Amino acid sequence: MEKKQPKRYTVTAALPYANGPIHIGHLAGVYVPADIYSRYLRAKGRDVAFICGSDEHGVPITLKAKKEGVSPQEIVDRYHKLNYESFEKLGISFDVYSRTSKPIHHETAADFFKKLYDKDKFIEKEEENYFDEENQQFLADRYIMGTCPQCSYDKAYGDQCESCGTALSPRELINPVSMISGNKPVLRKTKHWYLPLEQYEGWLRKWILEGHKHDWKSNVYGQVKSWIDTGLKPRAVTRDLDWGVKVPVEGAGAEGKVLYVWFDAPIGYISATKEWAEEKGIDWEPYWKSEDSKLVHFIGKDNIVFHCIIFPVMMKAEGSYILPDNVPANEFLNLENDKISTSRNWAVWLHEFLEELPGKEDTLRYVLTANAPEAKDNDFTWKDFQARNNNELLAIFGNFVNRSMVLTKKYYDGTMPQAGEWTEEDKQVSEEVKTFPERIADKIENYKLREALNEMMMLARLGNKYLTDNEPWKLQKTNPERVKTIMNLSLQICANLSTLAEPFIPYTAERLRRMLNIEMLEWDDAGRIDIISEGHQFNKPEHLFEKIEDEVVTGQKNKLIEARKANEKTNAKVKPAKENIDFETFSGMDVRIGEVLEAEKVPKTKKLLKLKIDTGIDQRTVVSGIAEYYKPEEIVGKKVSILVNLEPKKIKGIESKGMILMAEDANGQLSFIQPDKNLDNGSEVR
Ligand code: MF3
Ligand code: ZN
Repeated sequence: MEKKQPKRYTVTAALPYANGPIHIGHLAGVYVPADIYSRYLRAKGRDVAFICGSDEHGVPITLKAKKEGVSPQEIVDRYHKLNYESFEKLGISFDVYSRTSKPIHHETAADFFKKLYDKDKFIEKEEENYFDEENQQFLADRYIMGTCPQCSYDKAYGDQCESCGTALSPRELINPVSMISGNKPVLRKTKHWYLPLEQYEGWLRKWILEGHKHDWKSNVYGQVKSWIDTGLKPRAVTRDLDWGVKVPVEGAGAEGKVLYVWFDAPIGYISATKEWAEEKGIDWEPYWKSEDSKLVHFIGKDNIVFHCIIFPVMMKAEGSYILPDNVPANEFLNLENDKISTSRNWAVWLHEFLEELPGKEDTLRYVLTANAPEAKDNDFTWKDFQARNNNELLAIFGNFVNRSMVLTKKYYDGTMPQAGEWTEEDKQVSEEVKTFPERIADKIENYKLREALNEMMMLARLGNKYLTDNEPWKLQKTNPERVKTIMNLSLQICANLSTLAEPFIPYTAERLRRMLNIEMLEWDDAGRIDIISEGHQFNKPEHLFEKIEDEVVTGQKNKLIEARKANEKTNAKVKPAKENIDFETFSGMDVRIGEVLEAEKVPKTKKLLKLKIDTGIDQRTVVSGIAEYYKPEEIVGKKVSILVNLEPKKIKGIESKGMILMAEDANGQLSFIQPDKNLDNGSEVR
């Protein structure tokens, strides 16, 4: 069945939490594909609103603020700015990048809730929720962690298991613990509003399971089906937190409560659209309420339940909104064969990439698209990054354009030569060129962006091969007329590429257009071979791509390895407690405060110092394995704790009487145990 062409497109990219920087996993999964799609639509002359912004509520933000001892606002201000700027530098062409802390969003989200409330779409329930007594706080969402009841992953959050994707509520967790105190939480009564998802089951089945069986990606469809089949439950859409959109009902026990972040965040798409439309002086409503609009959500796979079940149910309950036509969620991108992890710092951060590899924005976009985790998780490696840049972008696309431009400069002083009679080969090539706009479009419209990119490169390959096969640089001496035709056709292909490459590698496409001295073409014209007319003046040839040297790749890999090492250190495990002992055993140890009188290295050893200690009882010799941490001269005069009744022992021929007690952390840092007041030598430690 042929679908009618939409009048306008509302393209959303998941609002990233403003609690950290963007990494390549986010880019490959969501932002690069959404940008390719939006740029393509614009090139097709379609009406597009490409919407994004910062998700500034929710526990990930307040947790981070707490950890750093700053306000949540400070956190979101920092990362909103960083992410906004980084996206822009990568050429992600959002029409608006808003934020959910804006008044327009609070108003829109509150109104949305109020409308459902007034229409009686919620269930009001008083129930017991987990509470952290030490911090006097309810533990919603990511404030609580435990074992997933579905897959047994032991680090599932109170709102979702990131291992199997299941949407959870805190009460479902096995062995829950508070993320704030590490304590076992207690139960306490509280009132909340719930969205009765189960009432929409039949409708969801019809809409998605029957209606989108063939046009939604199978990973998305499969997840949705399994949730529906498992049975939907009412889901709380309010929280006992103080950071978020206030629950907008008065006198109903809503004080001190905010909307659940996953209730307000997707409404952020709507508020952002409003903001954008207001600025443009147009009406926002058709983009969300008109049946001839096409709504597409670009997200990562961990967002599927929210975009395919919860948000649609909200919109359905509200009644005036359209539903997504598609939700092309991607799987995850790995990095050097290991899961990307923010907490383990195993990631390539966009803002760092932009600083360290300036001018390589298109290479990153290209590599992330070529390796997009469309059907399954995929891997990013620096070696592949280098290879794709050098062997594909530079050796094929760059080489083709460069040869065309340089020869034209040389033979015709940079003007378009006139084509003569076409050979069979010319005809064949131009017939094939004609097919590209549609071939690429078809892939993009079906969210097959890797294949779309591959098609685009096929055009560059075709041009490159045409030049190589015809060797105009040799022919010029014997048949300059023929060369004119070859160059004319090559340059027409360059012109086509400068539009067809635009969605994928926009900086390169723009530079190519500048070099060719032409504007963007209409997408469907980008297969024509009469784009540039004879006599047209080109600009100076420039290289479109630079080779990436081995040093760059090794440097980036080393950086990752360093990050991993640093991280392993800070995450080193604290050893569990030993078996209990009785008091007797403990009090048998005689520990005293002493003072180091002399210290010298034990000859021919690396680790040992020979110390003379005033224990208050006597002055005695102790051999201690601390030479790698302390120089003899810096410890003379220090107070220490010493176990004085340890059986004497000969070490390297020296009789050692007792043991200096040291504290050691998980990273191997050593420290003396010293009194915090000036105590006499011989004071007992008990
Ligand atoms: N902040 C969420 C995440 O990073 C995505 C929110 S998407 C929206 O997983 F729809 F809620 F906006
Ligand atoms: Zn799970």
